[in-house]
Amino acid sequence: MSPSELRERLIEAANTVADYFEEIEDYPVLPWIEEGELKRNLPPLPPEEGEEFEKIFKDFREKILPAATHWNHPGFHAYFNSTSSAPGIIAELFSAALNQNGMLWKTSPASAELEEVVLDWFRREIKLPETFRGIIYDTASVSSMHAIVAARERLKGLNIREKGMAGRQELCPLTIYISEQAHSSIEKGAITTGIGLENVRKIPVNENFEMRTDLLKEAIAEDKKNGKTPFCVVATVGTTSTTSIDPVNEIAGICQEENLWLHVDAAYAGVTAMLPEFRKYFEGMEKADSIVINPHKWLFTPIDLSVFFVRDFKHLKDAFSLVPEYLKTDKDEKVTNYMDYGIQLGRRFRSLKLWFIFRYFGVEGLRARLREHIRLARLFEEWVERSDRFEKLAPVPFSTVCFRAKHHKLDEETTDKFNLELMNAVNSDGRIFISHTVLNGVFSLRFVVSGIRHNEDGVKKAWKIINDFYEKKLGEFL
Ligand SMILES: Cc1ncc(COP(=O)(O)O)c(C=O)c1O
Repeated sequence: MSPSELRERLIEAANTVADYFEEIEDYPVLPWIEEGELKRNLPPLPPEEGEEFEKIFKDFREKILPAATHWNHPGFHAYFNSTSSAPGIIAELFSAALNQNGMLWKTSPASAELEEVVLDWFRREIKLPETFRGIIYDTASVSSMHAIVAARERLKGLNIREKGMAGRQELCPLTIYISEQAHSSIEKGAITTGIGLENVRKIPVNENFEMRTDLLKEAIAEDKKNGKTPFCVVATVGTTSTTSIDPVNEIAGICQEENLWLHVDAAYAGVTAMLPEFRKYFEGMEKADSIVINPHKWLFTPIDLSVFFVRDFKHLKDAFSLVPEYLKTDKDEKVTNYMDYGIQLGRRFRSLKLWFIFRYFGVEGLRARLREHIRLARLFEEWVERSDRFEKLAPVPFSTVCFRAKHHKLDEETTDKFNLELMNAVNSDGRIFISHTVLNGVFSLRFVVSGIRHNEDGVKKAWKIINDFYEKKLGEFL
């Protein structure tokens, strides 16, 4: 494709993207599509000869778009909504055009140095001390997996990097501690790194879904007594179900006493450390060994972009650096080669989109949006509390509300069923999408405000839709 044709196509693509955002509310948030429908609509084999761009564009509009879940839709209130903003989209385009592979400084000084600069901006804004350095990975799951490996390698005398774990009589089970509310990615990290699910100890939580530190201490003591080797604790600030906050400072004290690696999973809520009034939730975070925060969750960054901060970056290098001859350069002593700090060799130019986002919104602009989302979630929380149809099921520290529908004539089991069907009915309607969790055995609806296109009118509309479906569905259960 010649540059002049590329120009034409990019203009067309830009129009398609802008049209998409203009028309986004015409789409159902969740696509009205049967399982396998898109596959049936597409040929089983690729074309032998290249096709006209018009035809590809047309199929994109007519076949792919209707099969998409619209994460950018203002009615998307499920999970932790991750939305793309204009600067993020444009930076993705530039990143694809430049096609930098940032494995070494030499293979892209722009990527290596921008990553350092933009993560240093981020570090300062969330008030982490200078000792911390960051690296960008794709997801929080991968960031946390790296934390587990770094923690494992810091264990003196075990040298698992060199010797592996299998067949070693002297190696006791290594144990990790998380709360019952921690994200499943930590367990996946334990699967990947050979720790094993049985060695992930799930510590019970209190009535606010926060890790019980008395039980953490007990579990560590018990494991030590039984010949196990505790090595890592994961504290979560903003758990996935309720966004509860583990007492990081207290947990940090325990980790210091026991010489355990402390990893803080702040994948969703970590961005609120940019708000002075929210710093209280992060007290003690500076004592952590590593922290993960996902700008692709609540900082308007197109998926994927996860930031992993480590207090002593050397631990990451000790765990992962392995440089084959062909990747040695004469600059290695003076620069950061990011391939030394993780499992991947090839790396996308992800820092570009975070840089565009900081530049375009400014830190104040980002703060204002986070505050507005928190305000809107509190408004929703208030409506739930005032309503006799609904009840709140967990505190709302950030922008996620856990609640359920109720009626005095419904028993617990029927209430669960009613809520499930209410959620399915609301989601089938197409205007909004909410998700669920289970809390203390009770089916709970979850309403999240974290999308760049969320606003008060949309949240009011969502509340009305949920109420309308309450009325429609209730009759079936009485
Ligand atoms: C607290 C927490 N940690 C980790 C993750 C995993 O995130 P990712 O999809 O980036 O791996 C999630 C996902 O929602 C999460 O809520």
